[in-house]
Amino acid sequence: MSRILLTGATGLIGGAVLHRALAAKTGTEWVCLVRASDAEAGRQRIAARLGRFTSALNAQRLAQRVEIVAGDFTKADQIGDPRLDSVTQVLHLAADTSWWAQEKVHRTNHDGTLSLARRASRMKNLTRFLHVSTAMICGGNPPAIMDETRYPDAEARHLVHYSASKAAAETSLAARFADLPVVVARPSIVLGHSTLGARPGSSILWVIRACDRLRLVAGDRDGTVDIVPIDWVANTLVEMLERPDLAHRIYHLSAGLKSRTRWSDLGRTLDLVDPADSPRHYDEFAASDRATLQARFAAVFGMDEAIKIAMFRALQAYYRFCELNVTFDNTRLLSEGFAAPPSLPHYIGRCVETSGDIIDQFREDFGNLASAPLQGDRAPRTRVPLSDGIAARAGAARRNAARRGSTPA
Ligand SMILES: NC(=O)c1ccc[n+]([C@@H]2O[C@H](COP(=O)([O-])OP(=O)(O)OC[C@H]3O[C@@H](n4cnc5c(N)ncnc54)[C@H](OP(=O)(O)O)[C@@H]3O)[C@@H](O)[C@H]2O)c1
Repeated sequence: MSRILLTGATGLIGGAVLHRALAAKTGTEWVCLVRASDAEAGRQRIAARLGRFTSALNAQRLAQRVEIVAGDFTKADQIGDPRLDSVTQVLHLAADTSWWAQEKVHRTNHDGTLSLARRASRMKNLTRFLHVSTAMICGGNPPAIMDETRYPDAEARHLVHYSASKAAAETSLAARFADLPVVVARPSIVLGHSTLGARPGSSILWVIRACDRLRLVAGDRDGTVDIVPIDWVANTLVEMLERPDLAHRIYHLSAGLKSRTRWSDLGRTLDLVDPADSPRHYDEFAASDRATLQARFAAVFGMDEAIKIAMFRALQAYYRFCELNVTFDNTRLLSEGFAAPPSLPHYIGRCVETSGDIIDQFREDFGNLASAPLQGDRAPRTRVPLSDGIAARAGAARRNAARRGSTPA
């Protein structure tokens, strides 16, 4: 009998994992470590997240089938709850996914992961500690095709603090927890759901839609981005937990050479599903060319509101990731019989169909991305006006407080 401890169940991928696992009706027991005032509040937060995948009624039913431990994974080594002692597998998804808050992100993603690993060391029946990292630990100068062996690399130059913290967590886990059955899964860019489209969450979808609307591609319009859908990531993670044996300790959960997305192909698909101003022609520019992006952005979206300025700044950073033109090799995964992911052009139509306004989609990500400086000489000069920045942060803090308390997410 499997008994799986899941962190991050209230997040984008965690919700998809739980929905997929509970819908399968196996005998597996799921224990969710959730930030909440008590177990019932945690259950309601999970039900709210599951409600993005199914009806509210069914979400409530599914949420009744999980055990809740209310708590913070960064203090997991202090959680004495004996229900954790009999866990057989851990799926560690929880992370601070904000990009720039350096210290807090490191404390959560690095120190917090080690705290969870210490707690896991006391689980006597543990057979797998599936740690979810990110393929972006490669930093800003990866090879065109990257396999799992090259990183983490202490010399990597990270575009954002978030990926540095994830790289550090991988390094410390390997160095300090050699006895723990750690397997690392590194998703690439997780965007949309192959059948529900944007319904479970529009995170990063706004980026692709904004690039398309601007008709601007960073680098080469025949360049590629490595994107996978949430449901495929969830299915793969669940299968990785179920398999008694895996040949490797590290896996990319990525599109790879077969399913990566070429901008020109995406444009042709978008011509069909979103035919305004077709046929599309994408202009190329260098992501460091702020003036070109700003002029195009101002013409298309305007720069008349703080939210748009914040979106412009976030987009600048995302363009740098798009410009990497890197493919994360997924041969390890596929050669062990895991299903290949669909490529974005196969399901972008569903994403567009279920999408609202691009700026509203950005607003969903705003708590993570706004009013934060970029690193070093890349810092943009544009700033969100102070008063709006404060209001935005207050809004994000209110949302976070509500998420952690008894109010459903
Ligand atoms: N989405 C992607 O494109 C992508 C790509 C590569 C890798 N990943 C990795 O995949 C994982 C999941 O990503 P996601 O997109 O699902 O993230 P997400 O939507 O931002 O969710 C983060 C989750 O972590 C939880 N969490 C954060 N700090 C916590 C704490 N101190 N104690 C307990 N829970 C805490 C959050 O709980 P609250 O609800 O309480 O805040 C939430 O459930 C992360 O490790 C991320 O690095 C994601």
